[in-house]
Amino acid sequence: MRVLILNGPNLNLLGTREPDTYGTATLADLEHDLRTYFPNIQFRFEQSNHEGRLIDVLHEERGADGIVFNAAAYTHTSISLRDAIAAIEAPVIEVHLSNVHARESFRHHSMIAPVCQGVIAGLGMTGYRLATEALQALQQSEQ
Ligand code: DQA
Repeated sequence: MRVLILNGPNLNLLGTREPDTYGTATLADLEHDLRTYFPNIQFRFEQSNHEGRLIDVLHEERGADGIVFNAAAYTHTSISLRDAIAAIEAPVIEVHLSNVHARESFRHHSMIAPVCQGVIAGLGMTGYRLATEALQALQQSEQ
């Protein structure tokens, strides 16, 4: 099973970025945890601060078994990312570390949620693991 873990803008700074909101774990910690937890999944990990690059990676992985996507601030603004998700076959799960619904109102709306399989928010890095488990379950239900 092939899964893409895709992280958007400013998430490269996890660990030092607003630790009260996003915790102290880094993207490298996330990668290590997921690879350890799911030894049989073939992961690709990508992070970009650029919308076009995120779109390119979504296109490249359109045939993956699933995508876990934290689009960060682009979640709330990007029609292009929404269209990219709608254009590909791979199921996408939207993930946020923080509970966006308990924060500023501009974070309450997601442009991408309607074209995603599901949404997980507020559970920190655990959200990525739960999303991966959901993708696994989805794949098993299709077999
Ligand atoms: C975030 C929430 C977004 O509103 C914010 O812009 C981020 C991170 C999260 O993981 O909680 O950059 O996606």
